[in-house]
Amino acid sequence: MNQPSHQSIVSVRDVSLSYPRPPRQGGTLDVLGRTAFEMKAGEFVTLLGPTGCGKTSLLRIIAGLVKPTAGEVSVGGLPLDAPSPLAAYVFQQIALVPWRTVRGNVELALEMRHHRAMTKSDHDKAREMLALVGLSGFEDYYPNQISGGMQQRVGIARALAVEPRLLLMDEPFGALDAQTRRILQDELLSWRARTGLSVLFVSHDLDEAVYLSDRVLVMSARPAHILEQIPITLPEPRTAHDCRATPEYAEAHRKAWALLRSQNALGKGAAA
Ligand SMILES: Nc1ncnc2c1ncn2[C@@H]1O[C@H](COP(=O)(O)OP(=O)(O)OP(=O)(O)O)[C@@H](O)[C@H]1O
Ligand SMILES: [Mg+2]
Repeated sequence: MNQPSHQSIVSVRDVSLSYPRPPRQGGTLDVLGRTAFEMKAGEFVTLLGPTGCGKTSLLRIIAGLVKPTAGEVSVGGLPLDAPSPLAAYVFQQIALVPWRTVRGNVELALEMRHHRAMTKSDHDKAREMLALVGLSGFEDYYPNQISGGMQQRVGIARALAVEPRLLLMDEPFGALDAQTRRILQDELLSWRARTGLSVLFVSHDLDEAVYLSDRVLVMSARPAHILEQIPITLPEPRTAHDCRATPEYAEAHRKAWALLRSQNALGKGAAA
């Protein structure tokens, strides 16, 4: 395994974000309020929070797709003013190019990242990544000829193909059945162990968050900030142990749930 360096891969400093409300309402919706956290290279960090609290918005800011209203973000030690070449993004709602095949969609990501014509190694890389997510044999299908879960897996293959140092994943396994989800969780952990990849993950699933992460960041209701950071210590490698049966797992799960429930119970997520 590549040893994680202790350099910062993501630094979020006092980030706030307000969106304009629809014209009939006027004013702004304050989504993030002075959110701050650091992530070291090689870490796996999951953001957990009530629905609508701003998790996708925060990920989009770190991806360089949305500008914060206030505060600063660095990726790989550099202030962000455009999407970082170190990062790749798996979207919550996957969008594939409909007139390209499954393999063509993965290859498109490589073309766009490298700004050059396809090479043989790009073709091989696309095939390798599709095999990793269990899509061998479907390379020549078009997006409307595969299931929602398969489309989601193309999105993961597309992000991994560019060999990012930072993978931003917004509920990437949300549309998958329980079995495929478990298999891909383990594939992701093994891939990360081999490459030293840093992962910033968003999930609604407490089990998934605790099983995958080195640290879980629980977000408050809007305007969201990081309520608490929960370090997760489990037997490693997690794929080789029955981690879900350990007292550490149960305790982290209990703590995260208590925090999440407190935010929902307060009703702060309402549109007011
Ligand atoms: N482009 C936009 N313009 C205006 N408001 C937006 C925009 N994008 C998101 N919002 C609002 O910001 C809030 C946070 O949205 P966001 O998608 O970041 O939440 P989330 O935590 O990812 O939710 P979920 O868990 O349901 O995916 C929501 O109230 C949403 O309506
Ligand atoms: Mg979201």
